[in-house]
Amino acid sequence: MALAARTEVRPSIDETSLALTVAEVASLTQGVRHVRFTDPARRTLPSFTPGSHLVLWCGTDADGRPRRNAYSLTGPEFEPDHYSISVRLDEHGRGGSRWVHELEVGQVVRAGMPRSAFAPVLTARHHVLVAGGIGVTPILSHARAARQWGRSFEVHYIFRDGDGPHLENLRELCRDRLRTYNTADAFWSHMEPALLDQPLGTHLYVCGPSGLIDALTGRARHAGWPDARLHYEHFGVGELDPGTPFTAHLRRTGVDVPVDSGVSLLEALESEGVAVPSLCRQGVCGECRLPVRGGGVDHRDLYLSEAEKAAGDCMMPCVSRARGDRLELDL
Ligand code: FES
Repeated sequence: MALAARTEVRPSIDETSLALTVAEVASLTQGVRHVRFTDPARRTLPSFTPGSHLVLWCGTDADGRPRRNAYSLTGPEFEPDHYSISVRLDEHGRGGSRWVHELEVGQVVRAGMPRSAFAPVLTARHHVLVAGGIGVTPILSHARAARQWGRSFEVHYIFRDGDGPHLENLRELCRDRLRTYNTADAFWSHMEPALLDQPLGTHLYVCGPSGLIDALTGRARHAGWPDARLHYEHFGVGELDPGTPFTAHLRRTGVDVPVDSGVSLLEALESEGVAVPSLCRQGVCGECRLPVRGGGVDHRDLYLSEAEKAAGDCMMPCVSRARGDRLELDL
């Protein structure tokens, strides 16, 4: 019996990052750019779970700090010969989308290993996938995998008329399992009753603007869906209030770190020379998670589950704060 040929998998720069070459750039719709990356030697890249994101080193912030942003992977996930992302230009963002829009073919970039925070539940009886605008990127990856593995699924895609990135890809993949909407009224008039009419064991996944996620998960809960069957991915937290000052007590070293209003706990720790890994600094990626040993947490991130937030033993210091004047950390 012949053994299958071993696939040569691309080695990483180090344990956690890869060098990737920009192989192709294309405009999908107004303001949305699709970028395809390959291994510089054209080897197979590490596989990933549908819904995973790729963290790119995107230049530096205005203060000289390295900028790293997470983008959903849209291409095939098993032993891929490329990674691809689609990014809408955000004129008011921190500069990551601008950096992506200025990439040129042949440029070599640094990326983290694909990470998953929005994976499909393989035991689900049926998958309802909902995308709003550029939130289509992880949904495309879910739909591709669901089709490939013969899972039961349907896709609902809401976008402004004439501006549906990856619409043709979804049509090809989903055929009659895809419904599209150009207005909120059209979307809700179908989704409201649909939320009440799903087989037991159905899981709902939504990626898009916060308003869409909050409204859809809120109506699903109201219709009796348990939290365990609701999955969502935000683009990032919006404007946060500056919060009140508090003190972070570092249990292992006995140091007290003051955290002023308008300063994040992450920034306060860094200014005291305490190194905390971070990527998005928007409460989305999960990289900065810290163990909490005392005090209440005002969770403002979009990463931890409701159950994890209720347990109160960890927090995302890039956005979350103390619910009181003191917090004890296992640092
Ligand atoms: S750095 Fe991403 S959640 Fe804090």
